[in-house]
This record gives sequence, structure tokens and C-alpha cells, in this order.
Amino acid sequence: MAERIMRFHTADKVFHAVNAITWFALLFTGALVYFCQLSDEMANSLMVWHIGIGVVYTFNLLGFIVFAPHRYAAMMNSLLTWDMDTIKWFRNFGGYPRRFFGIPFGPEEVPPQGRYNAGQKMSYLIFMFMMYALAVTGWLLFYFAPAIPKDAFWYMYMFHVWGSIIVSLMVVGAHIPLALLSWEHFKGIWGLGEGTISYEAAEHHSPKWLEKDVIRTNFEK
Ligand code: HEM
Repeated sequence: MAERIMRFHTADKVFHAVNAITWFALLFTGALVYFCQLSDEMANSLMVWHIGIGVVYTFNLLGFIVFAPHRYAAMMNSLLTWDMDTIKWFRNFGGYPRRFFGIPFGPEEVPPQGRYNAGQKMSYLIFMFMMYALAVTGWLLFYFAPAIPKDAFWYMYMFHVWGSIIVSLMVVGAHIPLALLSWEHFKGIWGLGEGTISYEAAEHHSPKWLEKDVIRTNFEK
């Protein structure tokens, strides 16, 4: 049987799926209240939903660190490890402009990448920071409003609203389309199976990770 490589453990998959689902539910309820002229009753009811979903979202963020600290650490370690190949990736943006739009941008050869390529590292670091920052500002705005000076409250509110919108645009405009292009990873993280990807996909997207970090449990190979 063709060799499969373990990429997404159950904790990674649960964290990602609950985060993605609650993220869009929060975006939807929040945007309706912020942008639409709703009746007070409707706005209040949507805010109750927003807070309720926010509880699940927050528990998921904390749960990942508390119940799967090894997976959280592995992810952060991969995201924070930058070498020359990571930097060089930006010379041709992983070859994506050439491959998808025929734009001869930078050298043809793509430098070998680790678990994540440089573009993923940059965007996932922004995502991770914003996931926690939105939870913190959300709870501060909800619980501590009377204790926060008016100006600070306003800046926090603007950060909460526009920060979530900017990251959502990154997710919808880049993360999801690129995720759909690497189908093995898509099936691995969203599927109910083992969370493995093919050897070929690992070798193509993450040769350094395959060589240095993947622990082979099948000793015959
Ligand atoms: C329906 C929407 C989404 C889809 C289809 C999707 C798809 C994917 C896929 C296929 C991967 C694996 C990429 C890889 O490691 O090669 C991934 C990883 C990741 N996604 Fe999403 N994603 C979605 C929503 C989100 C949202 C809303 C966020 C955060 C704002 C997010 C943050 C992340 C992060 C941090 C990772 C790295 C997780 C890990 O390697 O364990 N995703 N996503």
C-alpha cells in the first residue's frame, strides 16, 4: 500500500474545525449587527448568539493549549522557525504567480520548505495572533465595558470589528482557495479519517519537514 504520512492529529482537526465553524458564525452574527439597521430586539438576540458562540470559540482556543499542549507547541515551533529557505520563498512567492497566472516572478526554483511554507507561516501567525486577540477584546468589550475609558473602548471595538473582517478576507480570499488546491491537505484536516496525507504530497509541499521532523513508525520502510 502507498505510504501515508501523519500530518493532522485529532486535536489539530478538532481545533481547526471548531475554530473555522465558530469563526464564520461569529462573523455572520457580528456583521449583521454592525452593518445592518436591525430592530433592537433582533440586534439583542443576535448578540446573545454572538456571545454564546464566542464561549465555544474561546473554550476551543484554550482547550487546544490545555488538552493538546504538544500539538500547540509543534505548530508554533513550525510557524516560528524561519531559515534562509523560508526567506527565499518570498523571491518567487513559492512559484504560485508563475504557476497560476503565468507571471514570471523571481527564480523558477522554489526553495524547499518545512511543515508550512513561508506564506503559510506568515498568514498562520497572523491568524493565531488574531484568534486570541479577538477573544480577549471580545470578552473585555462584553464584561469590562464600564471599567474601560471611552477612547480605549472605541479603539478596542474598532480593532475587534475591523481586525476580524481583515482576517476573514484573508481566509476567504487566500486561505480557502489555496487549501482547495492542495486537496490532500484539505482531506487530511477536514476528513473524518486518520489525518494522513500521501507521501508524494508531503515530499512536494514539505520536503524539509518530511526529512527532519516526520517520525516513521513503520520500521520496515
Ligand atoms: C471553511 C474554511 C476553511 C478551510 C476550508 C480551511 C482549510 C485549511 C486546510 C486545508 C489547512 C491545512 C493546510 C496545511 O497544513 O497544509 C488549514 C490549516 C490551517 N487553517 Fe484553515 N481553513 C478554513 C478556515 C480557517 C479559519 C477561519 C482560520 C483562522 C482564522 C484557519 C486557520 C488555519 C490554521 C492556523 C491552520 C494550520 C493548522 C495546522 O496545521 O494544524 N482556517 N486550513
